[in-house]
Amino acid sequence: MASAEQFFDFAAEVGFTKHMGGVEATEELVELCHIGEGSYVLDVGCGAGATAVYLVQRHGCRVAGVDILPRMVERARETARREGVEDRTEFRVADAQDLPFDDDMFDAVITESVAAFPEDKQRAANEYVRVTKPGGYVGLNESTWLQAPPPPEMVAWVAQEVGAQVKPLTREEWVGLLEHAGLKDIVARVRHIDTRHEAGGMMRRYGCLGMLRVWGRMLRLYVKNPAYRQFVKRVGQGGITPKNLDQYFGYGLYVGRK
Ligand SMILES: C[S@@+](CC[C@H](N)C(=O)[O-])C[C@H]1O[C@@H](n2cnc3c(N)ncnc32)[C@H](O)[C@@H]1O
Repeated sequence: MASAEQFFDFAAEVGFTKHMGGVEATEELVELCHIGEGSYVLDVGCGAGATAVYLVQRHGCRVAGVDILPRMVERARETARREGVEDRTEFRVADAQDLPFDDDMFDAVITESVAAFPEDKQRAANEYVRVTKPGGYVGLNESTWLQAPPPPEMVAWVAQEVGAQVKPLTREEWVGLLEHAGLKDIVARVRHIDTRHEAGGMMRRYGCLGMLRVWGRMLRLYVKNPAYRQFVKRVGQGGITPKNLDQYFGYGLYVGRK
């Protein structure tokens, strides 16, 4: 299995990150978090910057993004520059558990396939809430065990697909985390994973040109970097999707008001 560092270092290198449910799930978070024209949004674990750019272009937001990896932040800045939204975005290197912002700054704080990574998820959730304005929203789209405990082959598949370090929670655990962080009116929508829809979602999110750019970078990295070749081989070897995956693994949208 790829180490956590390798997994996201390579993702940063090729400029490709994803979350479950794709753009449609982002839209649902937008609606549940009451994000609209002029909203100031923080995207924690912004990856290559696709959602930040989307929120500016589609919804007229101002967006701050943070990611723990410097290379990822560079990619997000590049994406914003390429899409002409530099003036409406800012990106910083930061850990979700220690956000570099004052209290009560954002209309909404979102995370998409990120909150399952920090060692101390409660501390991270407290941070999302701290930097949200009173009356603002925190919205998570996070991997979720639909039945617990999951079998070992399921845990291994998820680590390979989502990132080695990931530790999904159950719906009750995610809701509990947000309640403990002080949020009210919590909404939880849990979904099964649809692997075919997930594959199509990459194209919908990045577009043909974007995916060609990503595949080109993958090819270059494959030719140049032996560690990447090993990584691709290992992913290929462990790539069989467990048959009863959808009984155990999915994602949830968890939203609460401060
Ligand atoms: C699965 S990717 C999702 C990226 C992005 N949200 C998207 O939807 O494309 C997870 C991202 O979270 C970042 N990450 C992991 N742990 C983090 C932490 N503790 N604080 C901030 N970012 C983190 C990774 O570097 C990676 O970019």
